Amino acid sequence: MLDKERMPRHVAIIMDGNGRWAKKKGLSRLKGHHAGMEAMKEIVRCSSDIGLEYLTVYAFSTENWKRSVEEVSGIFRLLVKFVDLDLDEMHEQNVRVKAFGDYSGIPAASRRSMDETLERTKDNTGLQFNIALNYGGRDDIIRAVNQIAEEVRTGGIEGEITEEMISSRLYSGDVNGNVPDPDLIIRTSGEQRLSNFLLWQCAYSEFVFTDVLWPDFTPEIFMELIEEYQNRDRRFGGR
Ligand code: IPE
Ligand code: IPE
Ligand code: MG
Repeated sequence: MLDKERMPRHVAIIMDGNGRWAKKKGLSRLKGHHAGMEAMKEIVRCSSDIGLEYLTVYAFSTENWKRSVEEVSGIFRLLVKFVDLDLDEMHEQNVRVKAFGDYSGIPAASRRSMDETLERTKDNTGLQFNIALNYGGRDDIIRAVNQIAEEVRTGGIEGEITEEMISSRLYSGDVNGNVPDPDLIIRTSGEQRLSNFLLWQCAYSEFVFTDVLWPDFTPEIFMELIEEYQNRDRRFGGR
């Protein structure tokens, strides 16, 4: 059972294992990504139901462009389908969708769908669902640093560069207050690495790894992992 007093505010997920799931079943990698989208849908719904404030999913990294053209364009097609088909439901659930990552470089149709989704849900006040799309932790930091350099040049910033100046210029920065750092980062498929996800924001995150391949991930497993998080002793260097 989840302890309502110890709920994480922000859960981030590295949704890994679509390819291996498909291979095990003798299916194409794209079928694996399709099944992965279905799993993601369930987790968004569940996060909204349990009253989570922020959910961030790693959907496509700055390094994933190295994959075949077929796989990359297939992933974007599936994403468009997801945001188009589920926009109404997410909107009804009062979900606010945000993008982490420079998605201006993705195919035009996918970009338009994302633009529309972000615009339509921007005033919703329920779960904030961040899709990390063409996201890289280093890219995130480089952009913030370049922005600061520009502001120093033009006189907007004087004196020392502070932690808050960097935080507020990352994708998780927001004029209405920054997205809190992830309390819990989950990675599926048995790999135990960050693969360039939220490098700055993960300073004090708790990590939970599971061998489950992403398409097999369910709300039940999600709750179990949140329970595991609730049993951790977070010290933040304080004692
Ligand atoms: C995660 O699954 C989805 C993306 C990275 C887009 P993978 O496609 O990495 O699946 P595996 O790791 O090959 O099993
Ligand atoms: C990380 O998975 C990126 C996403 C889940 C979108 P990868 O499958 O790309 O990571 P590596 O290559 O195993 O580190
Ligand atoms: Mg992988």
